[in-house]
Amino acid sequence: MTYELIIAETRGRVGLITLNRPKALNALNDQVVNEIGTALDGFEADDGIGAIVITGSEKAFAAGADIGAMASFSYMDAYKNEYITRNWERVKTCRKPVIAAVAGFALGGGNELAMMCDIIIAADTARFGQPEVKLGTLPGAGGTQRLPRAVGKAKAMELCLTGRMMDAAEAERAGLVARVVPADTLLEEALATAGTIAGYSLPIVMMIKESINRAFEGGLNEGLLFERRVFHASFATNDQKEGMAAFVEKRKPDFRHD
Ligand code: CAA
Repeated sequence: MTYELIIAETRGRVGLITLNRPKALNALNDQVVNEIGTALDGFEADDGIGAIVITGSEKAFAAGADIGAMASFSYMDAYKNEYITRNWERVKTCRKPVIAAVAGFALGGGNELAMMCDIIIAADTARFGQPEVKLGTLPGAGGTQRLPRAVGKAKAMELCLTGRMMDAAEAERAGLVARVVPADTLLEEALATAGTIAGYSLPIVMMIKESINRAFEGGLNEGLLFERRVFHASFATNDQKEGMAAFVEKRKPDFRHD
């Protein structure tokens, strides 16, 4: 598969997607988002891939949805084509863990893309925000829903209503970001984290991801029940037998991802 606006490659058991539209600060038009979706399809279908990293450039993870492409949309253009939801949801439906490695701007749809991922690792140069209010619109790819879950209502309100950006340190304090690293080590750190995850049992990793997502998608009791059922199901995997046997036998586990 050849791509024009992203680069998709593999590093061991990690799939790496690099947004590659530098002149527009990786602004997310339909083509970029479709290419991300196609790359994710490939990585999901590949048993040799256990985790995925999405990154951008030094200057921008992504500066948002492509403003030029949507500037003249009518309501009907947006509604009928299910603008945003139609192809962006693919990131959310990925069952393998996805890490966003963010340097520079993650604004609007760029921040929303990062929040669709499971873990955000930020360079110390990263800046996050939802500036749609300045354009006379509002976040359309989950910003008003995922940001309050990540940083709480007060800060989400402030960021979405003022359009101000927060730097990496503030984003980490607020809980949006798992870890901040020096910019020149961002990719290395993100790949190492993805590599660690990809070294574990894939079905177990998928169960953990699905279970944690339940914490954000329903009530506590439903989430606890789901977690218990998946926990019980983990005993049906060969990797659980191997992982626990290895601990008891004081050796390294040899996960076969089944
Ligand atoms: N869409 C399209 N093009 C964009 C873009 C975007 N979101 N962001 C930047 N670009 C383009 C600029 O138009 C410019 O192109 P030209 O060189 O052809 O003029 C190029 O990228 C470089 O940008 P700047 O010259 O503006 O760079 P800067 O360093 O001075 O500023 C910035 C950087 C603060 C990120 C500024 O570009 C900016 O404010 N961008 C828009 C951010 C934004 O509003 N994002 C939200 C979009 S709406 C959205 O995302 C809706 C949603 O919820 C899905």
